[in-house]
Amino acid sequence: MSVAQALAWARQQLEAIDDATIDAEILLAHAIDKNRTWLKTWPEHILSEKQLSHYQYLISRRSKGEPTAYLIGEKEFWSLTFKVTQDTLIPRPETEVLVEQALQRIPENSDFKVADLGTGSGAIALAIASERPQTTVWALDMSEPALKVAQANAEHNKIKNVAFEQGSWLSNWQHGQLDMIVSNPPYVAPNDPHLADLVYEPVTALVAEDKGLSDIHQITQQATEHLKPGGYLLFEHGYDQGEAVREILHKVGFTQIETVKDYAGQDRVSLGKR
Ligand SMILES: C[S@@+](CC[C@H](N)C(=O)[O-])C[C@H]1O[C@@H](n2cnc3c(N)ncnc32)[C@H](O)[C@@H]1O
Repeated sequence: MSVAQALAWARQQLEAIDDATIDAEILLAHAIDKNRTWLKTWPEHILSEKQLSHYQYLISRRSKGEPTAYLIGEKEFWSLTFKVTQDTLIPRPETEVLVEQALQRIPENSDFKVADLGTGSGAIALAIASERPQTTVWALDMSEPALKVAQANAEHNKIKNVAFEQGSWLSNWQHGQLDMIVSNPPYVAPNDPHLADLVYEPVTALVAEDKGLSDIHQITQQATEHLKPGGYLLFEHGYDQGEAVREILHKVGFTQIETVKDYAGQDRVSLGKR
């Protein structure tokens, strides 16, 4: 079977999936260890039997809903490549809104101390650290396997101004006052029907009690103790949680509170100044 024929077959298998054409190409490029440009240049190239059976295996897993990022073991975020495993959430494009908002508040060449709480693959921490090399960014997570992935991602992307720490939010924080805290914490309510679509990702990365707000509550409380006066707290949250998160920030005295929408026009990031 040729490259073009294999792609046509895969598109049919994945017809129920949104990005079938792109996924078919990404998985074929991965299966034969080439890139997508190569596939477009050599559509007549005949695949070996081994390559074809590997591709068919990947396509059958993808057709059952397994995310492409887990199948190839990586995902691009903020133009950096992140290794991902079943221990880490797959970085989402909308999380780049949180990175943008954070960077708008970190002056170039500043030596801000920033903490990314619940770093997972390290996406937010490493994106910020790559753009502001003078900052120190602490990447925290309670999951040791996730932290190992984040550390590998720092090495792979040659980013040095990040420190890694295991712990539950800032419960054991001992590195002094912070200029900024960013977090994409678990915010999906336990009874949210969307959870059924997320079976491949770690539930501890996604689900929080109290309508998805318990971790945002806890982090906000801790932030009042560990942020410098004038320091910023920024959260990613669910599309319907903007008002509730602004209220949580307001109650403990944050100022300049605002909610920013994602590229789909949904409330996605709320933030305040201590
Ligand atoms: C929604 S994921 C975000 C991952 C990553 N920051 C991203 O945006 O792709 C939430 C992360 O919080 C971590 N987490 C959950 N509860 C935690 C806690 N109590 N303390 C620290 N990290 C926690 C999970 O292990 C997971 O990596």
